[in-house]
Amino acid sequence: MKATDLLKKQHKEVKALFKKVEKTEDTRQRRQLMEQISTALEAHASIEEEMFYPAVKGLETKKAEEMVAEAFEEHHVVKLVLAELPNVDPEDERFEELTGDRRRRAAQSTRGAARLRRGAERGGHGGRPEPPM
Ligand SMILES: [Fe+2]
Repeated sequence: MKATDLLKKQHKEVKALFKKVEKTEDTRQRRQLMEQISTALEAHASIEEEMFYPAVKGLETKKAEEMVAEAFEEHHVVKLVLAELPNVDPEDERFEELTGDRRRRAAQSTRGAARLRRGAERGGHGGRPEPPM
């Protein structure tokens, strides 16, 4: 499996888990699902940060540099929310806010990574990543 296919697969898995969180009212199940999402996102972010982003940065274009910096910033926010979530009761409305925020951030991160991936796949070394949507 290509590394980019693995990243795409992980994006789909996290999206599916967020959908399950939205559909369940059971607080214990919600907490378990969010823990699964946390674990999946941490592993996914590590792969992107340690392997994928440096490869994109290696394109050595201003755009690639900006997009990678933006992607790292999005990951930083996701990690802050992930760190806060275990302290919030799933029945508390703040849990909803945090998971909603995390879902948005994860989606942004997914879109950012998809742009980087398409740019890297199209451009190769010296090519130009696709501009932001
Ligand atoms: Fe990603």
